[in-house]
Amino acid sequence: MKRILLTRKLHEFAMNQLRKKYELTVHTGIIPMPKELLLQKIKNVDGLICFPYDIIDRKVIESARNLAVISTYSVGYDHIDVSAAKEKNIKIGYTPNVLTNATADLTIGLMLDLMRRITEGDRLIRAGNWKEIFGPHDYVGIDLEGKTLGILGMGRIGQAVAKRAQAFGLNITYYSRTRLTKNQENKLGIKFVSFSDLIQGSDILTIHIPYKKETHHLIDFQILKKMRKSSFLVNTSRGKIIDAKDLVRALKAKTIAGAALDVFEREPIGKSHKLTKMENVVLAPHVGSSSAETRHKMAQITIQNLILGLQGRKMIYSV
Ligand code: DGY
Repeated sequence: MKRILLTRKLHEFAMNQLRKKYELTVHTGIIPMPKELLLQKIKNVDGLICFPYDIIDRKVIESARNLAVISTYSVGYDHIDVSAAKEKNIKIGYTPNVLTNATADLTIGLMLDLMRRITEGDRLIRAGNWKEIFGPHDYVGIDLEGKTLGILGMGRIGQAVAKRAQAFGLNITYYSRTRLTKNQENKLGIKFVSFSDLIQGSDILTIHIPYKKETHHLIDFQILKKMRKSSFLVNTSRGKIIDAKDLVRALKAKTIAGAALDVFEREPIGKSHKLTKMENVVLAPHVGSSSAETRHKMAQITIQNLILGLQGRKMIYSV
């Protein structure tokens, strides 16, 4: 019987299917699984099911003697050393597509929250500070209609955000490594602009690019300084794309008006983090894909990728 290591328990239906086929080792303690433990447990397994916070680096991959498949419960695979895995002929499965809509929904939700100050109002009421009703200038937000939305990265999620943004009457611009066809652009009602025009011309900038060496701290103080003072930044991709210290600095210096973040350089962030003290910041605990339906589908694909990979067959989604 093949052996599988899971760095955390998946849905019960998925666990049941896996139990029927494999001998499982399921990590149950502290999350993420401590590195030493991971290095030890991975030695003799054939398959690994991991999560975006597990760092599957060269050292981990090299200490695995029999590993044939890594199946990650995420669309992002920046936590896996892909070259190290390829060198050892280890297949990598991941879960794109199924989480596109959920992540785009959250992006729009964060945008609305930030611009209409929804959670700020919630905090105000809970703190007992709502004293008078309907003042003409009370808690005023910003309309979405007519504003320019800049989408950085026009892959699956960027496109799903654009589709939704059309309904709000936003002018949609984008910058992406690969430009879409004219036909696709027309259908989505989007306009391709240069990176610097996107930064300087957006009222809302939303990030939908993968994290890699080249995108590390792509959004730093120099970039934040170039954005409109009235603009908002939304990030549901990966935290390390933004230099968090620079973002705090920019928010303090008011080079931008606010930020909504679902992802952070180090997760989880604690309540003493500087961002938690800022009213013009909306924070979410990395839940882009976290709807019941989507997480269920992700679990299905994660185990199917693993099973197919171990059978030497084509995975549903492989890196
Ligand atoms: C992923 O799957 O990579 C997302 O970050 C999960 O929300």
